[in-house]
Amino acid sequence: MRMNVWSPRSWRAYPALQQPSYDDESALLSVEKSIKNQPPLVFAGEAKTLKNQLAAVSSRQAFLLQGGDCAESFSAFDATIIRDTFRVLMQMAIILTFGAGKPVIKVGRIAGQFAKPRTQDTETQNGVTLPSYRGDIINGCAFQADARKPDPNRILQAYHQSASTLNLVRAFAQGGLASLEKVHAWNLNFVQSTVTDQFIDLSKRIDEAIRFMKACGITIDNTSCFQETTLYTSHEALLLPYEEAMTQQDETYDGWYDCSAHMLWLGDRTRQIDGAHVEFLSGIQNPIGIKIGPTATPEDLAQLLQRLNPNNEAGRIVLIIRMGAELISDKLPRLIQTVQALGASVIWSCDPMHANTIQTSSGHKTRKISAIIQELTNFFDIHHSEGTYPGGIHIEMTGANVTECIGGQQFRVTEHNLSHRYDTQCDPRLNASQSIELAFMVAELLQKKIAMIS
Ligand code: PEP
Ligand code: CO
Repeated sequence: MRMNVWSPRSWRAYPALQQPSYDDESALLSVEKSIKNQPPLVFAGEAKTLKNQLAAVSSRQAFLLQGGDCAESFSAFDATIIRDTFRVLMQMAIILTFGAGKPVIKVGRIAGQFAKPRTQDTETQNGVTLPSYRGDIINGCAFQADARKPDPNRILQAYHQSASTLNLVRAFAQGGLASLEKVHAWNLNFVQSTVTDQFIDLSKRIDEAIRFMKACGITIDNTSCFQETTLYTSHEALLLPYEEAMTQQDETYDGWYDCSAHMLWLGDRTRQIDGAHVEFLSGIQNPIGIKIGPTATPEDLAQLLQRLNPNNEAGRIVLIIRMGAELISDKLPRLIQTVQALGASVIWSCDPMHANTIQTSSGHKTRKISAIIQELTNFFDIHHSEGTYPGGIHIEMTGANVTECIGGQQFRVTEHNLSHRYDTQCDPRLNASQSIELAFMVAELLQKKIAMIS
């Protein structure tokens, strides 16, 4: 039940799950004050533009690619990693653009993805129990009492790292790293060393399309849409004091915007209808993602849509479905039917990562590419039979050559070599070649299931 008029701090009157408890409240207050005095990371007009582009996804004119780290970290803050992740996202986007025959809207889990919800509040190792790691914006990952203590100064460090990351991402997007020919050349290079004819065939067809454009006299060297792009930013709106401090009223664009990222999402663990996270997100104008796991009922979804998008604005809501390869067939059709019956405008996106996590006997948290592909395939099939539009994918990936997910064709990761480069501080990510292979597979699904729908 709503208790007051919305303001950036009205969430404080509601139960807030997954929040750290800080020893020193006055230190937190002083950090909140300094964050309020910092410049915004994004501009309200950009969030509005993203919302318009997402509205095109909801009317089947575009496709959404959202991807990046499970959790960014202070220790892996490195220009090369940011460049490689940017590059792989661009490579995936070209493959998907060709597969869908539609523009691809690119949104990174980047420049602010620092706070993690946890299933357990504490972690026990060899008889010692400490608070769980909740992301670098809250505490440290090392299993030591000092590191695990929530420290409000980390919020400032996360803000500054987000600002530097975003600065670099904007430079890459406008400064040549998104050039169609360059990105396509990387893809050709990639397929030359793969074993799969399908991928070679698809990239040859992209190559032909580019040659055809050139032959028709379309100059791709100095046309901005072939040289530049926009990579929007997103993260989970979890740590509410930070999100509140980044929220500003914008006169031109009419309303409050959370200027920590273009798009924010509501986690599967914090989507209680009377909870603080829903209250906070209900009042900001940014596009909102809602993670929908297998426990979400059609009634939960109907209430969330009513609360977060009462005016049924197109482009406002991305439903990020993360059911697991098996449960999706059982659960998703009813949710789609509910949304259809309500006439609600949403974007259906598939997160095939979060409900497919397993633990190996060596203790590594991992995901099998086969399960990821299975969930994606089921997602596309279900939408095909319901007559609805599978509008996007949501992936945890990195440009680095990590060994965190099992499978892959070019560099096969097995259960036995997972520990070679298991770098993640949180969930296992696809590495560069696994991500590109996944994009080829999704492009095929797109060609089979949606390319004909305009
Ligand atoms: C995440 O996206 O990293 C995450 C924790 O997701 P979910 O809320 O879907 O579990
Ligand atoms: Co994750």
